[in-house]
Amino acid sequence: MTVRTSAARCNFDFSGTHVAITGGGQGLGRAYAKAFAAAGAAVFILDRNFENACKVTDEIKVADGTAFAYQLDVGRLDDVSDVFSTIINEHGRIDVLVNNAAIFTTLEMKPFYSIDPAEWGEVINVNLNGVYACSRQVVDTMKENGFGRIINIGSAAVTMGRPNYTHYVASKSALIGMSRSMARELGSFGITVNTIMPGATFTEVERKTVTPQQKRTIIASQCIQRPATPDDILGTVLFLCSEESGFVTGQAITIDGGATHS
Ligand SMILES: NC(=O)c1ccc[n+]([C@@H]2O[C@H](COP(=O)([O-])OP(=O)(O)OC[C@H]3O[C@@H](n4cnc5c(N)ncnc54)[C@H](O)[C@@H]3O)[C@@H](O)[C@H]2O)c1
Repeated sequence: MTVRTSAARCNFDFSGTHVAITGGGQGLGRAYAKAFAAAGAAVFILDRNFENACKVTDEIKVADGTAFAYQLDVGRLDDVSDVFSTIINEHGRIDVLVNNAAIFTTLEMKPFYSIDPAEWGEVINVNLNGVYACSRQVVDTMKENGFGRIINIGSAAVTMGRPNYTHYVASKSALIGMSRSMARELGSFGITVNTIMPGATFTEVERKTVTPQQKRTIIASQCIQRPATPDDILGTVLFLCSEESGFVTGQAITIDGGATHS
């Protein structure tokens, strides 16, 4: 039996929509960027790794899409302000912000009591403070247009309480409460704020932290027992960024094949 997946059948139209994606240079961020561009959006890819951001814009342009690359470390507040101002000055506005950048695949797994305070601070700074820093830059432009979508990328690791990267889990847990508070503050301006919580999703990027045995265990824990790919996440992200989702805000939506039931 062939089981169909959804991404190929997502028919959202984002023509004329300006979408900023942090950490869009690889992995899930790259998949979001390509999906929005394929749906007609102009995509701004902001990544600490400028070379990768440029590669993704090139991939999009080859497919006749519209994309622009910017170098940005979301953990550097002044740089965040400069890059977002540049985008808004050059392109007029930002309609959608996907706060995807995080220290993730480069993390070394270890118990919380072995995490060095500097590493703890860096993960919180990028994964949590970076989301605050980028989100505040888009509020004025979204208010002016009476429309905005902010998607914060959390993790199903929060619900599972996975061990050995507690700084990461702490940063992603905080996003849920932060998104709910932001949603309350921005709802009357036509701006929604939601968190998505993907489970383990296998991208083009190798992860030494998931052993073959762990991968089998993860898949066995799911209702839908196959490895998740970026295609499994795209439909929810596109929906939450569309006009059709205008009454959905402050939510944390888990996409993990039913591994957890929050
Ligand atoms: N892949 C999964 O299994 C999974 C599961 C749950 C949540 N997530 C979340 O999804 C997002 C993407 O995951 P991924 O698997 O693509 O990770 P990844 O590590 O492959 O990609 C992260 C991207 O963010 C960029 N980045 C890192 N620090 C940055 C900074 N300070 N400023 C700007 N860019 C920065 C990296 O250069 C990279 O392009 C992350 O927020 C991650 O926590 C992933």
